Amino acid sequence: DWTTENFIEEQVELIRNKVGKGKVLCALSGGVDSSVAALLVHRAVGDQLTCVYVDHGFMRLNESERVVKTFREELGMNLIFVEAEERFLKKIEGVSDPETKRKSIGNEFIRVFEEEAAKIGKVDYLVQGTLYPDVIESGTSTAATIKTHHNVGGLPEDMQFELIEPLRTLFKDEVRTVGQALGLPDDIVWRQPFPGPGLAIRVLGAVTKESLDVLREADDIVFQEIKKSGLYRQIWQSFVVLPTTVKTVGVMGDERTYANPAILRAVTSDDAMTADWARLPYELLERISSRIVNEVNGINRVCYDITSKPPGTIEWE
Ligand code: XMP
Repeated sequence: DWTTENFIEEQVELIRNKVGKGKVLCALSGGVDSSVAALLVHRAVGDQLTCVYVDHGFMRLNESERVVKTFREELGMNLIFVEAEERFLKKIEGVSDPETKRKSIGNEFIRVFEEEAAKIGKVDYLVQGTLYPDVIESGTSTAATIKTHHNVGGLPEDMQFELIEPLRTLFKDEVRTVGQALGLPDDIVWRQPFPGPGLAIRVLGAVTKESLDVLREADDIVFQEIKKSGLYRQIWQSFVVLPTTVKTVGVMGDERTYANPAILRAVTSDDAMTADWARLPYELLERISSRIVNEVNGINRVCYDITSKPPGTIEWE
């Protein structure tokens, strides 16, 4: 019978047997998937696990500080924090093609991990929070790849670790239940999914530090307001997209403005394979719109994306 407790026990046993006295490395993103995968492995092999958190500069506001505090201080895990913003920004400088962007970021990720692994000594295993829908959507040799999800398809062939993917059979809601049972804090258990390449695929077109900062501010307003409304858990993802090549005319006080619009995207979904745009209350939309336009320098208009998946994808790139 499938129960959360059985699943945990079984996985812990499997991981322990597989790893033996080996060393394990985990790419921790701070999302629920990699966090739960890491916690399972930590329960199985304790300090044989080292987590590596890479701040590629595409994270949300205050996200990195929060992750370090949770995993190092509250959960007592080995965590290496890699500050790599400049490195990643340089890597995708001038790149506007979404797939090229994703691949560059994914490859750079692997390179950073390999460097960290080399510092630790011989690493035998790599933990990944791959879920069942990731396995499906990234496709096999017979299915077309819709988008390259770097956590599944983008690994170089010469990679010298073996993979541990304890969540490969689970859907998101099951992962959350497992996380809760393992003592993961609520704000991570219920965190909305966030793509590996982060805000880099939400700044449409070429990414700059400045556009990331603008997007981060707008994104944080959306996060605060959705949280305040009590809808955060019901919504699969809510975020902002910044089309940097589009500028619109506006008026503020007596001044004409000419700045970027922001596109608000909020969807409901069970597994990200299909999604519907969220019917957010008008009052909430109004608050988000007026706060973004008033508080974020560089945005003078807010649009709401009313496209379902399919035919739209959740992300814009
Ligand atoms: P799409 O845009 O394909 O997204 O409807 C489906 C889900 O996957 C997330 N996503 C990613 N996750 N690396 C990830 O780890 C990626 O490159 C990536 N691209 C999209 C997206 O946020 C949504 O939850």
